[in-house]
Amino acid sequence: MAIKHPQYPNDWQLPSAIQCLPSPDWASRVSLSIKRDDTIHPFISGNKARKLYSLIQRWQVSPPQQVVTMGGNRSNYLHALGYLCYQKSIPLLALVRGHEPEHYHSTLSDLKRWQVKLTFVDKLTFRQCRENFENVRLLVKEKDLLSEAESSIEWLPEGGSNVEAFNGIMLAVDELTQIPDVIFVPAGTGCTALGIAAAIDKKGWHTQVIAVVVLKGAESISQSLGKLAKQANTPWPKSLTLEHRFCDKGFAKITPEIKKQKAYYEQLWSLPLEPVYSVKMLNAVKAYCDSGMLDNKQVLLWHTGGLQGDT
Ligand SMILES: Cc1ncc(COP(=O)(O)O)c(C=O)c1O
Repeated sequence: MAIKHPQYPNDWQLPSAIQCLPSPDWASRVSLSIKRDDTIHPFISGNKARKLYSLIQRWQVSPPQQVVTMGGNRSNYLHALGYLCYQKSIPLLALVRGHEPEHYHSTLSDLKRWQVKLTFVDKLTFRQCRENFENVRLLVKEKDLLSEAESSIEWLPEGGSNVEAFNGIMLAVDELTQIPDVIFVPAGTGCTALGIAAAIDKKGWHTQVIAVVVLKGAESISQSLGKLAKQANTPWPKSLTLEHRFCDKGFAKITPEIKKQKAYYEQLWSLPLEPVYSVKMLNAVKAYCDSGMLDNKQVLLWHTGGLQGDT
């Protein structure tokens, strides 16, 4: 049967490159390479491109009149979605966590430039919305923020982690030209790692997928991922391990140590990295290498982009 290849937008650079990385002393017995999803597109890159692919296809046939979502004020997903909606002239309303800052950093400035309607909500309300997306609908109605009839609105969860995103991520595994022994990928909601692992299981590969969780105390993500897998009609992937030991001080806590580690890896491999996700993934890779667990293995690191959030 002919395989239907994804119809990616013309300005996306896909398949993304897989680059070999020179092994430093601490990885002398490990073969390292990296999947450069950060290079897909200047604004819709990394796992955001993968997550938004199916949605872009659907919008080509029937675009919504308005989109509503939520995210942190440096959210890479919000940034990518903001650009996409701007490109397609679809109004986007975003509930943003925390107070409105006096001076906008680059993510917020870009969102403003792309005409995203930003509504800042306090942390408690944001958490309630995160825990139950129904609260987003209630809040938006209560504040009278909608400009369209509710039936024509697309509601997207934080980080875009839904079945459509999961399906888009699964497709990325088709681009691998060799079967790695181990894949490392950073995890926020874990949707990206789940999609990669589900695709690996489906192919029957022996590859282990190590999802390096960047949030502190996020043991419950296995439950939300279990729900997502169920919605996607997929069994829990046997290849997937959630690794919680490298969350450091917690989500987006960019300590001087993290900055130092980022500079070290960037110099080592001449790669652009961001401090929230990829540095923690690399810390996990280094610790696994130090322990000898990856000796003689082909290890693939997944660069999930997010470089815009670092300015
Ligand atoms: C750069 C980057 N890497 C990794 C992730 C984590 O993705 P997920 O929420 O699918 O685990 C995100 C969030 O979308 C991200 O922006």
